[in-house]
Amino acid sequence: MIVNRKVLTLDEFTIQQLRNFPHATGELSSLLRDIGLAAKRVNVEVNKAGLVDILGDDGSVNVQGEDVKKLDVFANNQFTGVLQHGISCAGIASEEIDDYIAFEDEVSKHSKYVCLYDPLDGSGNIDVNVSIGTIFGVYKRVTPLGSTASREDFLQAGVQQVAAGYIVYGSSTMLVYATRRGVNGFTLDPSIGEFCLSHPDIKCPDAGNIYSVNHGHFFRYEKGVQDYIQRCQGKTKENGGPYTQRYIGSMVSDVHRNLIKGGIFMYPGTTDKPEGKLRLMYECNPFAFIMEVAGGKATDGKKRILDIVPQKLHQRTPFFVGSKSMMEELELCLNQ
Ligand code: AHG
Ligand code: MN
Ligand code: MN
Repeated sequence: MIVNRKVLTLDEFTIQQLRNFPHATGELSSLLRDIGLAAKRVNVEVNKAGLVDILGDDGSVNVQGEDVKKLDVFANNQFTGVLQHGISCAGIASEEIDDYIAFEDEVSKHSKYVCLYDPLDGSGNIDVNVSIGTIFGVYKRVTPLGSTASREDFLQAGVQQVAAGYIVYGSSTMLVYATRRGVNGFTLDPSIGEFCLSHPDIKCPDAGNIYSVNHGHFFRYEKGVQDYIQRCQGKTKENGGPYTQRYIGSMVSDVHRNLIKGGIFMYPGTTDKPEGKLRLMYECNPFAFIMEVAGGKATDGKKRILDIVPQKLHQRTPFFVGSKSMMEELELCLNQ
């Protein structure tokens, strides 16, 4: 009997992918399952955040010097805990933790991946019920299996990622992840508590009409960025416009929308903060990887994000990501 199943769950999908690789160990599938589990737990808390005393600052300041929201702490603990107890992760680094953590138990020491993440992105939006997210990047460790993971496992260029993804806790909750073979999106079906394949093989449209940038910083952007923003404002029907400006202030939601619909997201450096705000390892590398696999581009304004060799875990970088032809027009402005 052939059972005609229409919707694959995340687990079913990753296992199906494994069948194409007879020598694969299944460790990546297991790691994605762990991330999916943490995401479901965070989702439950996000959904009831207005009801319980979990909103607002927890009174401390994170390693980036920013106020830590209680949900940030909760999310960080969920992702760290689930990966520590899983069987695929030798260590983690998180936007919320000063330094990387290498797991010391024997199973973890024999695991081949490390995972870097922003457990809760857009946390400034929690109190006002705007979509927030989680971002993660997965690297194969460079140190030998059996040893304790070390700094060099974490300080790899983004091009070395084997997978990257994000979860958006929005009007529905979605997990999107990329491997070199493609980008796939899964929507949480609350009735069965499973992420189900809803957006197979996502491709970013080559051109779009959405540009996303914080206009409040306009006069502190370099001239090339200002020129590009003005070109966006001047688009007409004749040259692919008009464009629409959309900026939620939750990068996961902003880039997710632009990935699906076509668009460009920019967080440039400013005169007072030349490196901008976003973190290379936790925010930019995962999105650069996802966007490139989907057919788009990502740069720091000068070079490809994925080629940057990181100097430190919490490094920041200007970030431009989106549809290929829009990125090319931006590059023309920046190179003038
Ligand atoms: P986080 O909440 O992890 O600190 O990141 C928030 C980021 C990103 O999601 C968003 O695009 C950006 O901050 C918004 O910054 P501005 O308010 O400066 O535009
Ligand atoms: Mn963030
Ligand atoms: Mn964060």
